[in-house]
Amino acid sequence: MSTDYRIVVLLSGSGTTLQSIIDAKLPANIVAVISNKPNVRGLSRAQEAGIPAHVLDHTTFPSRQDFDLELQTLIDQQRPDLVVLAGFMRILSDDFVHHYYGRLINIHPSLLPKYKGTHTHQRVMDDGDPLHGSSVHFVNTELDSGPILLQARLPVLATDSVESLELRVKVKEHLIYPTAISWLAKGRIKLKDDAIYMDGKKMPGPVVMDYM
Ligand code: GAR
Repeated sequence: MSTDYRIVVLLSGSGTTLQSIIDAKLPANIVAVISNKPNVRGLSRAQEAGIPAHVLDHTTFPSRQDFDLELQTLIDQQRPDLVVLAGFMRILSDDFVHHYYGRLINIHPSLLPKYKGTHTHQRVMDDGDPLHGSSVHFVNTELDSGPILLQARLPVLATDSVESLELRVKVKEHLIYPTAISWLAKGRIKLKDDAIYMDGKKMPGPVVMDYM
């Protein structure tokens, strides 16, 4: 379905998250995909779906600020309602984050606020944590710390390896991210003073989808 709601997706890698958003046939238009790395699978997935794909190689910029400014210019040319980070493995500068306040979301593979940063699956296993999952959150200037909209929660199995755990988390990510984006596209979600409102009511905490 194609509507007036415009999404720009930023990624750095294989793009399975992008693929889940494409496949969900949301009431939204993915108007551009931008990668900070050339030749990644996420770019060819966009092209296969007929979505304009852009590369902005961060290694060719003298500083983070220069890269972020150019990225912002490219994004704003697309006039997006929502900017979706889908495996975009770059820290964004404060100015960039402020510019997109309330319309910049991320998916992070942990039950935030636990396991911010990288190697989340390995760290969950190392800690013997019985639970793991993924979180869809608005982006603020602190790493992996913005208001959380939706989480998928699942058990860590005795038989899990880091790879199997990552795969099981990803399967759930591919359900919750399109769900969260569809809520936003339908205008059901608003962010105000770092509080999330759903259907006009302040949310007491994230919606949690349990896959126990
Ligand atoms: C996803 O698991 C996503 O949660 C994670 O990267 C993966 C992207 O997969 N994001 C982060 O770690 C952000 N901090 P993909 O490249 O196959 O879409």
